[in-house]
Amino acid sequence: MIHEDAEPRVQRPERTATARSVLMCRPEHFTVVYRINPWMDPQLPTDTSLAMSQWDALYRTYLELGFDVQLIDPIEGLPDMVYAANGGFVIDNIAYGASFTYPERQPEGPAYMDWFRRNGFEVAEPEHINEGEGDFLLVGDTILAGTGFRSASDSHLELGRLYGREVVSLTLIDPSFYHLDTALAVLDGTPGREHIAYLPSAFDEPSLGILRARYPDAIIVNDEDASVLGLNSFSDGYNVVIASRALDFERQLRGHGYNPIGVDLSELLLGGGGVKCCTLELRR
Ligand code: ARG
Repeated sequence: MIHEDAEPRVQRPERTATARSVLMCRPEHFTVVYRINPWMDPQLPTDTSLAMSQWDALYRTYLELGFDVQLIDPIEGLPDMVYAANGGFVIDNIAYGASFTYPERQPEGPAYMDWFRRNGFEVAEPEHINEGEGDFLLVGDTILAGTGFRSASDSHLELGRLYGREVVSLTLIDPSFYHLDTALAVLDGTPGREHIAYLPSAFDEPSLGILRARYPDAIIVNDEDASVLGLNSFSDGYNVVIASRALDFERQLRGHGYNPIGVDLSELLLGGGGVKCCTLELRR
């Protein structure tokens, strides 16, 4: 009899969940009134109350996973503030503030920095354009840093100086995957067990060479799953919260020993964001 399970058994390492501390922002003022990425179309209607209930399902998922979830107050007139990942980058209790590319989002930088200050983080005011954890991802002791559309490569140098960690620059080339967290997911960031997933076509050749050499066992996500922002996911090392429509990614995650949890953020996809965009990790 043929075995139903097509995944190779040898490839199922033990995975360990570590409850995370994250910052989120309710989409109370979410809508699409400008276009700063190809997903956004101000002509299409948005449904703020649907955005709220979908976001709430993500929020409750994190609480059920035992996460500590902090909330920043949404500000009227800043419809993209729900994408908290862009509000900064936090390691060692130091928050590197964001400095947004487009004027529409610029006031979010100081708003998030205020929150960090009021909540006991040391704030490093940015000198260079950067969109926080949208473009910076910690994997082991290395910071993977995206550039090409939003964060300036000068911000990568600033990051390296600030945290004294290795920063690896990766260049994004597809406007639909304009932030690193839309093209690459950190599944296990534990030093020595680093594991990621990514969409190869989102990167230029030199960056792809780096990814292949450093992460030979990475999960390669297909275009279909990437097109529902499947990679824009958040992992605690075992549970991986992903877009419910990213079916092949879900199957691959199971094969690698993870527990994928699907959520539907279709409304927030109209702004060009998904699970990870709504989530900023706070590392004290
Ligand atoms: N509309 C927002 C923008 O274009 C979406 C941000 C998505 N955030 C993210 N971390 N990828 O800036």
